Amino acid sequence: MFFFIVTLGFESMEAQVPADDAQYAFGKKIFQFFKEQKIDLIIGAIDPKAQDDVKQSISTSILNGMEKLKTIGDPARMKIINVLFVNSRNKLLIPVMTEKNDIIMIILDNVINRGGGLFLAGPVHVVRSEKEKRLTQARKVYMAKCFSCHGQYGEGMVGPNLTDDYWKYAKTDAEVKDVIANGRKGTVMIAFKDYLSAQEINDLMLYISILQGQRLRKGKPAEGNQVQLLRNLYLQ
Ligand code: HEC
Repeated sequence: MFFFIVTLGFESMEAQVPADDAQYAFGKKIFQFFKEQKIDLIIGAIDPKAQDDVKQSISTSILNGMEKLKTIGDPARMKIINVLFVNSRNKLLIPVMTEKNDIIMIILDNVINRGGGLFLAGPVHVVRSEKEKRLTQARKVYMAKCFSCHGQYGEGMVGPNLTDDYWKYAKTDAEVKDVIANGRKGTVMIAFKDYLSAQEINDLMLYISILQGQRLRKGKPAEGNQVQLLRNLYLQ
C-alpha cells in the first residue's frame, strides 16, 4: 500500500468540475494524475457541505476513475449516498449504492481537516461486511415501509426530512429506534414493532444514521431542533 496525501479540497475542485458530459474526462484526468504518482487507489475527499448536485458530479467523476471499484461493479452506475466525516477518529465514511442496490462503505482513514480542504494521509478501505449487508437489508425495508412518507432518499414528504440536522423528536440513535418501534402518538407515524423484527428496527436506525447530512436540494424544510446524531456505528 502506498502512503499518499490527497489534496482534493472542495474549493479547488468546484472550479474544475465541468457541468455535464465532460465529467468522465475529468474523472480520467484525476485517474491519470494518480497513476503518474504511482498510487494504486483513487479516492476524493468532498466537502460534506457541498450541494448534492455538485457532490454527485464530483463523486461520479471520481468513481469513474476508481480502478479498485471496477471489481465491484460499474462505477458509473454507483451512487454516493453521503459523505460522513467522523471528527473524533479523522475518518471519512462514504456509503455508496452499487448498481445492484447493495450498499458498500468506502472508509478513508486519517483524513485531516485543515482549513482549506480535507487531506487524506492513510489507507482507503472498500468495505462489504455484515454491517453493509444490514444496511442493504434496511434499505429494502425502508423502500417498502417508510419511503411513502419520508421520501425515496429520506428527503421528507408527509413525514419529516431524515437527511437534515433537524429532528422533531429523535435526538439520539436510541430515540430513532424508539420512534420506529413505538411511533408518535397522535400522528400518522405508527408503531412498527408489530410489523418489523427488532433486528429490522435496529437496521433501520443504522440506515437512518447514514442518511443525515446529505443536504439534498429538494428536501422538506427543517422541522424541530438542530441535532447532530452520533454516528459511532462504524467505529466499534
Ligand atoms: C404514514 C406516514 C409515515 C410512515 C409510513 C412512516 N413515517 Fe416516520 N414519521 C411520520 C411523521 C408524520 C413523523 C413526525 C411525527 C411527529 O410529529 O412527531 C415521523 C417521524 C419519524 C421519525 C422521527 C423524526 C424526527 O424528526 O424526530 C423517524 C426516525 C421516522 N419517522 C422513521 C420512520 C421509519 C424508519 C419508517 C418506516 C419503518 C417510517 N418512519 C414510516 C410519518 C410516517
